[in-house]
Amino acid sequence: MNIKRKIIIDTDPGQDDAVAILMALASTELEVLGITAVAGNVPLNLTEKNSCIVVELSGRTDVPVFSGCSTPLVRNLVTAEEVHGKTGLDGMKPVEPSIPLEEKHATDFIIETLLANNPGTITLCPLGPLTNIAQAMIQAPEIIKRIQEIVLMGGAYFEVGNVTPAAEFNIYVDPEAAEKVFSSGVPITVLPLDVTHQVLTTETRVDIVRNIGNKVGQEVANLMTFFERFDKEKYGLDGAPLHDPCVIAYLLEPEIFDGRYVNVEIETQSKLTRGMTVVDWWGVTDREPNCLFVGKADSTRFFELLTEKLRLLP
Ligand code: RIB
Ligand code: CA
Repeated sequence: MNIKRKIIIDTDPGQDDAVAILMALASTELEVLGITAVAGNVPLNLTEKNSCIVVELSGRTDVPVFSGCSTPLVRNLVTAEEVHGKTGLDGMKPVEPSIPLEEKHATDFIIETLLANNPGTITLCPLGPLTNIAQAMIQAPEIIKRIQEIVLMGGAYFEVGNVTPAAEFNIYVDPEAAEKVFSSGVPITVLPLDVTHQVLTTETRVDIVRNIGNKVGQEVANLMTFFERFDKEKYGLDGAPLHDPCVIAYLLEPEIFDGRYVNVEIETQSKLTRGMTVVDWWGVTDREPNCLFVGKADSTRFFELLTEKLRLLP
């Protein structure tokens, strides 16, 4: 019998976050212990609400949702309504969630869950700025050695930045949090723009999702259609990169991806390159490798897997 992988998804929904959460909640290979919301694409009052909306859409109302940090560790929040719309889930029919948020703070949930489970059995899956994860590490350093792995969407190297010429959004919003996580010694797998820009929501792929025949398929196609307009215009691509679902696909079928174990440092001092992931891809420094930096994906298999999972939902 296959053992389910226990994960916590930390997220700032965001259309691509929503697709990642749905994919995870459809997957019997994963035990989603909780969803923790963080400020990012839109402010926390919306990312926490959107997390509830997506959990409800999945039908998995057994999965608890926690609200976390409303601002980065030391900086002001930067949001991305120009990409995700005012609500953060533009494209979906507006709806009020009926499932409640948990009382407990997200960082307390992360800490308590890691302390209550055997070391090396919980994987953290951040899909937004790393504020909640870093805050939990600061609050309770004893959790660091208990984390099995951190599999995150963030950063960029050959693909360069998407919010500045140097930085990807999740790392840019809270570089200090990213520095804390990347220097923690926890095993880290990074799904950066280098790989997410290979998995594009082309018209054919969106049509397949729309025609799955369930409500989730309709709503995901609507989310993708709204979400893709920004990147299609900016990059002139025939679809938008589906960033966050790469994290879940990696957990389910790592063989879809390929990467290199390298050192990544985070720029926190420079105004010009704040949030840049400085990747020693060619091993030119003596800095110790600290993460698997993924650079390739089989986009055909990725979308087959995504569609297979969405088909399992209501
Ligand atoms: O740069 C892409 C990342 O920023 C994705 O996680 C997207 O949801 C936004 O949070
Ligand atoms: Ca996100």
